[in-house]
Amino acid sequence: MTTPEHVLVVFCHPLEDSFGAALLEQYTAGLRESGRTYEVADLYRENFNPVFPAGDYIQFDGGEMPQHIRQEQARVERADAIAIISPLWWLGFPAMLKGWFDRVWSCGWAYEFANDPDGSLLPLRPYRILFTTGGSAGSFARNGYAEALDSLIRVGVLGWCGVSESSLVLLHDTGIDTSTTDAHLDFVRAVGAGPIVDRAPTPDPRRITILNSPVRARNIPDAPTMAAL
Ligand SMILES: Cc1cc2nc3c(=O)[nH]c(=O)nc-3n(C[C@H](O)[C@H](O)[C@H](O)COP(=O)(O)O)c2cc1C
Repeated sequence: MTTPEHVLVVFCHPLEDSFGAALLEQYTAGLRESGRTYEVADLYRENFNPVFPAGDYIQFDGGEMPQHIRQEQARVERADAIAIISPLWWLGFPAMLKGWFDRVWSCGWAYEFANDPDGSLLPLRPYRILFTTGGSAGSFARNGYAEALDSLIRVGVLGWCGVSESSLVLLHDTGIDTSTTDAHLDFVRAVGAGPIVDRAPTPDPRRITILNSPVRARNIPDAPTMAAL
């Protein structure tokens, strides 16, 4: 795989001085080391409005999304790869990040309103998601949470977002076990410096879970629309 040149890093954390912010610093330092350019979509600091309003339904009638959403989409369009750094809240995206997906990944731009398109209108890009979790690797494995997140987020959500290959990393015990802190920071810097998605083994499976099996997502420029079905 050729190394992508320009990475969009979507960052979600309400606190300026969070551990997530420290991870962002390490990840972008790694990107710089690798010679890549990047831009950060810092959803809280940029006051992104994650609430999907009635007006956004215009997308389903073929209308243009609001200008500030088009600007978010332009950031995606000029990126060769996407990285997302966020805490895991209630086993999913925090509302801010969920709203970013709700609003930015619109019908007619990211996907067509087809019945089960199993793919995206967008050119394919690699994706990396880094989630911090309070829970341990053991509890995620015991309860099947890692596999559930893999299906729902990596295959299900990203499958509609033009994913070529993807990797979802769960950084466990964050904010609970401070002995993992340095290991997570070092790991995330190395991830930033390496390929967006690599198949390297997990450094320490007690602290980090990596999900990156191949997905069958694809782009669908010729997919039938609802009207044609
Ligand atoms: C609203 C909320 C919901 C959370 N839900 C989960 C969860 O479902 N599973 C989990 O392992 N940790 C959960 N956590 C813990 C966070 O993932 C953890 O505090 C965070 O990753 C630590 O990073 P931070 O110190 O930068 O916030 C939750 C935290 C908050 C505030």
